Amino acid sequence: MASVDAKLNQYEAGRLVPWVLLQGERIVGTITLNDIVRGPFLNGHVAYWVDKEFNGHGVCSAALAFVVETARNELGLHRVQAATLCGNVASQKVLKHTGFDEIGLAPSYLKIAGQWQDHMLYQRVLY
Ligand SMILES: CC(C)(COP(=O)(O)OP(=O)(O)OC[C@H]1O[C@@H](n2cnc3c(N)ncnc32)[C@H](O)[C@@H]1OP(=O)(O)O)[C@@H](O)C(=O)NCCC(=O)NCCS
Repeated sequence: MASVDAKLNQYEAGRLVPWVLLQGERIVGTITLNDIVRGPFLNGHVAYWVDKEFNGHGVCSAALAFVVETARNELGLHRVQAATLCGNVASQKVLKHTGFDEIGLAPSYLKIAGQWQDHMLYQRVLY
C-alpha cells in the first residue's frame, strides 16, 4: 500500500499519471507516465506491463497510443520517453507501433534484478 500511496502523492503533485488496464473488473496490466517534468523539458517517461494471458493482441500498443494522446492533449507534454532492455523485442515492437523513434543505446542505464543493465532509449516528440 505504501507504493500506492506514494504514487497517488506523486499524481497529486503532477509528477506521475498511473492507469490500470481492465478486462471487466480484472486488472490485466498497468501503464504509467513517470517522472513528469515541466518547464523547458515538458517530458515524461512511460512504463507498462500486460498479463501474459493477454499478450500479442495489441493491448499495450492501444494503451500506449492513448497515453501519448493524453500526454499531448491533456498534459501538454512535448515528449514521451521509454527505455527497454536490449532483448525486449515485444516492448520495442510496441514502441515502434506507436511512432516512437530510437534514440540509442544507454550503457548501464537501470539496475534490473540487481545488475546495472544497458537499455535502448526511445522517444516520441509530440509537437
Ligand atoms: C511488453 C508488453 C507490455 C507487450 O504487451 P502486449 O499487449 O503483448 O503488446 P502488443 O500486443 O501491443 O504488441 C506486442 C508485439 O510484440 C510481439 N511479441 C510478443 N512477444 C514477442 C517476442 N518474444 N519476440 C518478438 N515479438 C514478440 C507481438 O507479436 C506484437 O507484435 P505485432 O503486433 O507486430 O504482432 C508485455 O509483453 C509485457 O508485459 N512484458 C513484460 C513487462 C515489460 O517488458 N514491460 C516493458 C518494459 S520496457
